[in-house]
Amino acid sequence: MIRFNTQFYIPKTNVNFKRHTGHEESIVNGQKISLNNYTTFFRDYNTLEFTRDYILKNYPHGANITEFGCSMGHKPYSLMVMLDKSNQDNKYKITGYDFPEVIRKANDYSIYGIARFIDGEQILFDDCKNPEILKKTNLTKEEISDIRKIFYKYFDICEDKDYSHREYCKLKQIVANKEFADTPEIQEIKRKIFYDDTKYDNKMIVTPNKRAKELVTFKVGDIRNIDKILEPKKSSVIIFQNALYHILYGGKLSYELKQAYSNLQEIENVFKKVNFVLPQNGIFVIGTFPHDHMFNHYGEMLTRADSLNGENVRIFDFSPIHIALKNSGFETEFYDFSGYHSYNDGKKIYFPAVWKKVKEASL
Ligand SMILES: C[S@@+](CC[C@H](N)C(=O)[O-])C[C@H]1O[C@@H](n2cnc3c(N)ncnc32)[C@H](O)[C@@H]1O
Repeated sequence: MIRFNTQFYIPKTNVNFKRHTGHEESIVNGQKISLNNYTTFFRDYNTLEFTRDYILKNYPHGANITEFGCSMGHKPYSLMVMLDKSNQDNKYKITGYDFPEVIRKANDYSIYGIARFIDGEQILFDDCKNPEILKKTNLTKEEISDIRKIFYKYFDICEDKDYSHREYCKLKQIVANKEFADTPEIQEIKRKIFYDDTKYDNKMIVTPNKRAKELVTFKVGDIRNIDKILEPKKSSVIIFQNALYHILYGGKLSYELKQAYSNLQEIENVFKKVNFVLPQNGIFVIGTFPHDHMFNHYGEMLTRADSLNGENVRIFDFSPIHIALKNSGFETEFYDFSGYHSYNDGKKIYFPAVWKKVKEASL
């Protein structure tokens, strides 16, 4: 049976990326690859909040903040909102990079469906009452209301679809009543539920206004060329979050260990290039998506017990990815727990989500 976790759906077998939300085929450097463009506003809030706080504390006079793999730009826009009060003089420049087709959508299409079923996005709805989101993020009701006010200062509401919730429940019911089968009918239903986000599962369709578009820029760029794209030492924050697995699994995204091992050298080269463009103490945000850390291959075996802020937790920070980061001049700066794989013996699993450049690495 298909398992639903709010709107996000994880097939139990979890071997084939094609069934994930946001899946797309794309041609990159003449090769057909699988991409996942799924993203949301205020996704992985704790890491986002840490990033904002690090920026405010360490770069009070301004900084360039760059996200590779930005998809339609939900994270750059979320950071724009979260930095708003300190950015009246445009000292924080936020740029998102991705492949050409994706950037075309971010620049030209510029329409965003926001959903009340998504952890981060539900704070954008007046009737957000979910105590879980407050618990998970430590946000107070006042802070949520503040974020909402700022968001709608930059985003105009195009449509408010009251029918969408009903439609979502109806389709969810149809799928839940069927055994999983990849028939064209099921594919179409899934596409409607999970993918065609301007029509179905969202309550509101929004579009960034002129001011938002001035503050966030979208450009074509592959992180593997970051050393040619960015001027060295000029971007203090580089984000490549929920995206590393695209390189690790060679654009096939079937999560094979052999594939990951054969791409580890390429991954380490990317880390060294990121190191090259960051200034000392600049941060590299990779987030907590388990596949980005190769957690799926080692799982609980490689976790270790520790305590973070007085809480007993499990930490997963010794996979080949973490070794490659250390080899590339980085040290962990912030651990966050994964919303995608939460518990091990009742304890949260924390991943090293943010890394700091502590020394130069030779390319
Ligand atoms: C799942 S989305 C993640 C979006 C966003 N970063 C987030 O955290 O929600 C992954 C994005 O990474 C992009 N991507 C994959 N490989 C990339 C690369 N080598 N350079 C730049 N972008 C890449 C994909 O096109 C896709 O839009």
